[in-house]
Amino acid sequence: MNVGKLLSEMTLEEKLGQLSQYAAAYMDSSLDSPLTGPKSKIKLTKEQYNSIGSTYSFKDAGVMRDLQKKHLDNDPKKIPMLFMDNVIHGYRTVYPVPLGMGATFDTALMEECCAMAAKEAALAGVHVTFAPMVDLSRDARWGRCVESTGEDPYLNCEMARAQVRGYQGNMDPSKNIAACVKHYAAYGQAEAGRDYNTTDMSERTLRDFYLPSYKAATDEGARMVMTSFNILNGIPSSGNRRLVKDILRDEWGFDGIVISDFEAFKEMHIHGYCETEADCAEKAMNATSDIEMMSACYFKAIPDLIEEGKISMEQIDEAVLRVLKLKEEFGLFENPYSYASEDESEKICLSDEHRALAKKAAEKSAVLLKNEGILPFNKDNAKRIAVIGPLADYKGLDLWACRGKAEETVSVLEGVKNLLPEKEILFAEGCSYEVNETNCEKIPMAVKLAKSCDTVILCVGEHAKMSGEGKSRMELRLSHAQKALITEVTRVNKNTAVVLYTGRPLVLTDCIDDMPALMNTWLPGTEGGNAIAELLFGDKNFGGKLPMTFPRSEGQLPISYNIFRTGRPLLNGNWKKGFVSCYFDMPNDPLFPFGYGLSYTDFEISAPEISRAEMSSGEELTVSVSVKNVGERDGEEVLQLYICDEFASLVRPIRELKGFKKISLKPNEKCKVSFTITEDMLKFWSANDRFEAESGWFTVWVSNTSTETKSVRFVFNKK
Ligand code: BGC
Repeated sequence: MNVGKLLSEMTLEEKLGQLSQYAAAYMDSSLDSPLTGPKSKIKLTKEQYNSIGSTYSFKDAGVMRDLQKKHLDNDPKKIPMLFMDNVIHGYRTVYPVPLGMGATFDTALMEECCAMAAKEAALAGVHVTFAPMVDLSRDARWGRCVESTGEDPYLNCEMARAQVRGYQGNMDPSKNIAACVKHYAAYGQAEAGRDYNTTDMSERTLRDFYLPSYKAATDEGARMVMTSFNILNGIPSSGNRRLVKDILRDEWGFDGIVISDFEAFKEMHIHGYCETEADCAEKAMNATSDIEMMSACYFKAIPDLIEEGKISMEQIDEAVLRVLKLKEEFGLFENPYSYASEDESEKICLSDEHRALAKKAAEKSAVLLKNEGILPFNKDNAKRIAVIGPLADYKGLDLWACRGKAEETVSVLEGVKNLLPEKEILFAEGCSYEVNETNCEKIPMAVKLAKSCDTVILCVGEHAKMSGEGKSRMELRLSHAQKALITEVTRVNKNTAVVLYTGRPLVLTDCIDDMPALMNTWLPGTEGGNAIAELLFGDKNFGGKLPMTFPRSEGQLPISYNIFRTGRPLLNGNWKKGFVSCYFDMPNDPLFPFGYGLSYTDFEISAPEISRAEMSSGEELTVSVSVKNVGERDGEEVLQLYICDEFASLVRPIRELKGFKKISLKPNEKCKVSFTITEDMLKFWSANDRFEAESGWFTVWVSNTSTETKSVRFVFNKK
């Protein structure tokens, strides 16, 4: 297809159709005619409706084929629609939420999972996923931190790249889908953790922390970018020319499609940034936003804006061409139905292979946070097992679990029964999972059960509907009822492991002491229950590490390990002394830091050694540690490289992650882990308003958490 020629033959209205997207619920002709019913809200004419260029969120391959056919029958130019969806952590086979995938510190696994999701989605007719979501998150009150891989720019960049590679592969439409990185930009810094709220930050914070993951995704070739709902320093992203045109397109060279978030063009009016719909359309087009999702400012206002000379036809053509090119890349003009097939889709969704991968991901994402020697449970000693708690038989999936179904999901109760079919396995709910639950009526029954069993698994935390979009929380503690359940059950049975479900770091300060053991499973997806059972009973070992700090109190938020140095740092943890940067009612440090996670075995990590103490521009140096498995089981460990620029033109963080490697060792096995340090790793957004490294001393740590103290130093000479 010659898309240039096609473009030259299109009317303005047809072009605007390519720049407009509505959810399948609005497109489905089983609903009322385009001009009535839900569609009337958007108020399109029949001609506009027939020219729509893309849709999203449709049920399956059958619906895709149906919608595409009806569209082609009605569109005079017969331009196939692009079909998009929120394939965020799996399509039908669901793997852990992105925050959980962050905890794997395993980019190859992330890539594999995304490739699996893409394959399932492609056969259901999906061309584009609204993923990866790469918004850096330091505030657990913000419910959408569940969709990101956490608080660290380096980890987020690596995971962003892995997701793009996994989804897009070679852009083979039979098994790959295009990635749409979101939400550009800095949506994760919503003030006070309240979703859709203001983001206000300095250029250097934006450049050093928040922008790198979007850039990493576009560098990796993501075909689309979704702008965010928030204002950034006063300007909503959809109309933010500096952000989209100047930085994304001109500076980074992104030539793909930019799409708005849901109704975000129209929301520029509500923000108080655009007085009229025409103003929304003008600002968005001038920012080079291509597709408008779920509102109709372009349709309504662009013809007049062109007439008035405020927008040029060239601007429209450039945007339309970007959309047509993606359709061409997918071969849609030749094969508008792509590989959408209900039969083929049924064959691979939830196949043994896919379930096995989802299980592996659930296992690798789990983080062991506390273990007073009770885990792993001894299978031989466990005769009567109680699986207790509001989430013990929980199969719920979150908003972004796409086509995942509760009935196809394995709960912990089922997982334990699958693993140990010969044992007596009993269940008690204990209390409900509601966020402010105070009703403790059912606790005595659960306590009675716990008392009568030798082994107890207690599943508490957040139900999936408590995190995600629009799910900000002020308090991150467990409900009164869940805390009472933990206290009472562990009082009568010390052989109790707590399994925490959550979409965000929670504040566990007031119940952690009661827990003999605690594992965090996040929201683990289809195979969660099976993976958890195998971990608890020692068939598998823990290797996950926290991708986000678990605070001691909500008052510490936002919190992250990579904070800037202050003139009055808190040294030696003496927080009661005063007149240093600390609180006087609680320590500064979190309950569990970034990068933390236990294992069933122990690793001895030597002090880091450096290949030389000096490095100049263009040179590299190596830092290494030797690691030994000194425990009794096979285990995996994540070695993390942190660097601090000791003195710089702008004050630098106390340390920053610059590399990680996951290793696997047998008991008594030893290995050397090395990282190469390059000038690029020392760069930051400097006082000269550009990325550069500066001469001077650097401190380096290599360890299995972000709080290690053993370090080495080297000096960098810039040439
Ligand atoms: C969310 C996006 C999502 C879009 C389409 C919005 O509400 O912010 O992340 O991709 O809806 O479903």
